Amino acid sequence: MRLTNTWINGDCLKELKKMADESVDMVITSPPYHNLRVYSNDPCDLSNCESYEEYYYLLGLVIAECQRVLKKGGKFIMQFEDYNYTIGRDNKMGQESLTGNINKIMLDNKFSLWTKAFWRKYSAQRAMLAQGNLYYRNMKARDTILAANVGFVYVYKKEGDCELIKASDITLAEWADWADGVWNISNSGISHTTPFAEELVRRCVKLWSCPGDVVLDPFAGAGTTNKVAIECGRSAIGIELQKEWYDLAIEKRFSLWDDSVYESDDSIEKMKERFNEQLLVGKEQSAKAKTEKQEKKVMSDKKKELQTQIKNLEAELVALGIRKSEIKKIKNEARVESDG
Ligand SMILES: C[S@@+](CC[C@H](N)C(=O)[O-])C[C@H]1O[C@@H](n2cnc3c(N)ncnc32)[C@H](O)[C@@H]1O
Repeated sequence: MRLTNTWINGDCLKELKKMADESVDMVITSPPYHNLRVYSNDPCDLSNCESYEEYYYLLGLVIAECQRVLKKGGKFIMQFEDYNYTIGRDNKMGQESLTGNINKIMLDNKFSLWTKAFWRKYSAQRAMLAQGNLYYRNMKARDTILAANVGFVYVYKKEGDCELIKASDITLAEWADWADGVWNISNSGISHTTPFAEELVRRCVKLWSCPGDVVLDPFAGAGTTNKVAIECGRSAIGIELQKEWYDLAIEKRFSLWDDSVYESDDSIEKMKERFNEQLLVGKEQSAKAKTEKQEKKVMSDKKKELQTQIKNLEAELVALGIRKSEIKKIKNEARVESDG
């Protein structure tokens, strides 16, 4: 199977319109936010809106286009955070609930909330470097705010059914880690202001798509989604407005690949085989754990039985008139002998 890496420089609203209905298997993105970080003064840049209303309106148009190009039952993974307002930027305090506003847009576009994870991005101490009001000395009773150091990974499902496959290309060990609703992943990436963590994208791609699927990121930044999708044996489509980041992805990522990365011999059949192998690993692990538990139980029963025997013997010795101090001495001598 030949994978394709489609890397587009342009406004996602215009570029998505060129794509066919139901042509991608999964969408993943971290959208720009209204005025939290203004990436450019390009009028098409969603981070450059006049108001929250305009921002949510435009984001709604992008989501509607993604809904159109996504296959039925496909997943749209939205990564964002509810950020703290600042007086300087917003002229008010409190939090912007992207969760609430984006959820409404998704539901209006006939998506349903499927599942979610919380991403612990960095420590509260690091958040303090950017937000002075988090320092203890600046705390205000009754008005305390917490660090907004948690990102959300909301997974929405487009209505309809996709082909359901009882298998995954996730190992048992990965699942033991990833099934947790809280993901501790360090927030790092190449020189984009707000890069996706590759590990976060890897989890999403493997959890909600299959080998050979097409993964789309409409706000692709420095191409993290494309990089990870190709590495995981999926084709990728990324759209990024800013030429600087579009070029950065080519220079620091895609140009480093040789042609062989696009050749994948992975398939859904192979994924099923790996899944079955992992099921056997799981069975072996639980059989081993069961044997260990049984062995422990045998040992503990034996210990209890011997302790009862000792108690009974001691009672018989006392009944024969042997003093407790004498019995203690005999026990000590026996212990020394067994230690020696
Ligand atoms: C939060 S960043 C995404 C970073 C990306 N996940 C990565 O790993 O590099 C949002 C991106 O959306 C881009 N953007 C904003 N408006 C856009 C538009 N209309 N079309 C395409 N990209 C846009 C910004 O330039 C920015 O790079």
